[in-house]
Amino acid sequence: MNDYVLNTWYPLTWSRNVGRALTAHTVVEQQVVAYRTEGGNVIAMEDACPHRLLPLSMGKLKGDAIECGYHGMTYDCSGKCIRVPGQKSPPPNAIVKTYPTHENMGLVWIWMGDPALADVGKVFDLPQYHDPKWSAVEGDALEIKANYLSLADNLCDPAHVSFVHLTTLGNAASEDIPVHNEEQDGKLVTWRWIIDALFRSSRCGCGSRSSRESMRDA
Ligand code: FES
Repeated sequence: MNDYVLNTWYPLTWSRNVGRALTAHTVVEQQVVAYRTEGGNVIAMEDACPHRLLPLSMGKLKGDAIECGYHGMTYDCSGKCIRVPGQKSPPPNAIVKTYPTHENMGLVWIWMGDPALADVGKVFDLPQYHDPKWSAVEGDALEIKANYLSLADNLCDPAHVSFVHLTTLGNAASEDIPVHNEEQDGKLVTWRWIIDALFRSSRCGCGSRSSRESMRDA
């Protein structure tokens, strides 16, 4: 496995993709199963039954618990085994690892590191997303067949848009606009403002959508 930053919030998927069905996801090369409780909370846990490692996403949701599709062991939303068919009581060590989650900006965010350090106040946020004077465009995930650090490098480099994305974000007016880099409490923010230049609003080839681009923990 690559050496990932674990004590940080990662986007898991769009909130609309998590409901009353078990869905399988991969985050920092870890397999995760997610679902929504009857009360609406998002649960995320390791997608492996501790018994014989069948992906729990292949099981069934029963109330707020997952019943494994292999031998029926059942885990509540804290990951604790609450039923072993044919046994009076579940073994105390039959526990599935769970991950803290939080929803913001239409996304489910997941914390893959030490749960004790998961601070929802540190979930990435764009204040404009909540401002009715702004609007947001939601697309699907953009699959990049490259190391994630190459994407971080690309998104922290807005100077290229003047030459690479001439039909969308970039044009000659932005060529000499300086780029700023700021380190902010564990984040690196790269930005520049391009004032009074005409841009088309469609999506560009690298997935960038504005002249202000940021990447956490790059
Ligand atoms: S593998 Fe899950 S109950 Fe056996």
